[in-house]
Amino acid sequence: MEKFSTEVAIDLQPSPKRLNKKINIFLNDVLEGLQSSPKYLDSKYFYDKRGDELFQKIMASNDYYLTNAEMEILTNQKAEIADAVLTDTNKLDVIEFGAGDATKSIHLLKELNEKKAIANYFPIDISENIINLLNKNIPAAIPGLSIHGLNGEYFDMLAKANQISKNKKLVLFLGANIGNFKFDAMPAFCKKLRNQLSDGDMALIGFDLKKDPKKILAAYDDSEGFTSQFNLNLLRRINNELNANFNLGNFEHYAMYDPDSGACKSYLVSMKEQKVCIDETPINFEKDETIFMEISHKYSVSQIDEIAVQCGFKPVKHFFDKKKYFVDVIWESTRFR
Ligand code: AVJ
Repeated sequence: MEKFSTEVAIDLQPSPKRLNKKINIFLNDVLEGLQSSPKYLDSKYFYDKRGDELFQKIMASNDYYLTNAEMEILTNQKAEIADAVLTDTNKLDVIEFGAGDATKSIHLLKELNEKKAIANYFPIDISENIINLLNKNIPAAIPGLSIHGLNGEYFDMLAKANQISKNKKLVLFLGANIGNFKFDAMPAFCKKLRNQLSDGDMALIGFDLKKDPKKILAAYDDSEGFTSQFNLNLLRRINNELNANFNLGNFEHYAMYDPDSGACKSYLVSMKEQKVCIDETPINFEKDETIFMEISHKYSVSQIDEIAVQCGFKPVKHFFDKKKYFVDVIWESTRFR
């Protein structure tokens, strides 16, 4: 008889050792970024409890058009989307990357659930707070849905979902999260996704489209100042979790959009020469020195289709909002690549 390894079972428990490991990775990433020139921080760390709250405020703000645009697509076209993903199957595992509070995906989930087309729903999020909320709230919102929230990195958690179940998959990657990859990392991500999927598996991906540059810039420099608070919150998180002493009043948010490349970037600018200590490591800032915080890439439809093909997917369908600010695309994993 095969012996079960108790070590594996123990490793699945959240032990103090595991928590320390998370903090150590966070500390290493922060130090690596702030000891580089130019300085940077990884935007995946924005989302602690306060960061989640601030992102909710951004999404509800007048200037951040993305959420309303994608919400319009998912509420008005959920039946068409469901039909398009159910062409050659009647049961899917739905895996959601960066699920957030699932307020957008819930419309499609309900539609698919009414058709009894969901075997399992695996929301994946980097925020532990978010996963706990989803595990609690989704069963009440969609009775009978089998949900397994997974807290961690997308591909680690996709591998986990692959172990749990072998059904045909629909991967949701909504909210323009795909725009956050630095420079040429996006096609690499899509290729990696294709490699972890089987032929015929599908993805529904939300892209923010190129549009009036002023409209885009305003979304990342909102008049209520939520984006500024959102960026500064990462310094506060570093203070709290990594024993640092950033003075948040000494940094200012700066956003810029380049319509040629489609890159919308945000920075924190040091308002004076200063020294900050992070867990006893000193970091010096020149006056006006920047920390690169986040990139939110904007695409054209033809660019999106080209990337699909390049990465082993067939672009199946585009779903736009009325103003064509945003697109949700269905990609199918092709056999030949
Ligand atoms: C959640 C990554 C899609 O890039 O538009 C919003 C994050 N940053 N305002 C985006 C964000 C500043 C957002 N994503």
